[in-house]
Amino acid sequence: MVIAIDGPAGAGKSTIAKLLAKKLRFTYIDTGAMYRALTLKAIERGIKPRNAKALIAMARNTALDLAHTKDGSLRVLLDGRDVSADIRSPCVSRFVSDIAKIKNVRKVMLSLQRRLGREKDSVLDGRDIGTVVFPDADKKFFLDALFTERVRRRYKELKALGMPGITLKNVAVDLRNRDTIDSTRKCAPLRRAADAVYIDTTKMTIPDVVHTLAHVLHRDTGSRHG
Ligand code: DC
Repeated sequence: MVIAIDGPAGAGKSTIAKLLAKKLRFTYIDTGAMYRALTLKAIERGIKPRNAKALIAMARNTALDLAHTKDGSLRVLLDGRDVSADIRSPCVSRFVSDIAKIKNVRKVMLSLQRRLGREKDSVLDGRDIGTVVFPDADKKFFLDALFTERVRRRYKELKALGMPGITLKNVAVDLRNRDTIDSTRKCAPLRRAADAVYIDTTKMTIPDVVHTLAHVLHRDTGSRHG
């Protein structure tokens, strides 16, 4: 079974997807983390976001994996190295959308995401899961929230990670920029699939959102895990 969760940055996708996967005993697949890991490698190698040719070659020669630890956390492995913390840096956030808009980079990620998603029952979160990666997903959700709330959440998250130099203003600039690039790019832009259940999480707590998704799943797919 495949559950797709899409939406803009800061709408709560990864938090919710992780908790829902745990509740259902499914595998959580964070597709944004894959684009972030590629971006980190490009930064480390000094490859500029506009150098599509080098980025495509790099993507084709990169081993990306997601490892699930016993305590339920997800580790992102880039060529065998754990980069779970490094991929959250503001520098990676600044460039990731520019790299994720390259068609042939996405092609490499698409086949990896499909392979991982088909291996086990999975919850995948991203921007194009319900529209492109798994258009035939068993259930699709689109999580959204007001821009100011998304900024507030992302700010809190980065502060909690101890990132230096974080201000509400620079988080807002980064989010606005990524929203624009992610939703206007030619290849697999952020879109709500026609059959996705839309949930505005602005005023909802995390347990509320997880409960709502589990309830919808139980109602529509007969999933007994809710
Ligand atoms: O979910 P996130 O903020 O970690 O994602 C980082 C970036 O990766 C996001 O700005 C756009 C890109 N992305 C994408 O293009 N397609 C996906 N399925 C997931 C993420």
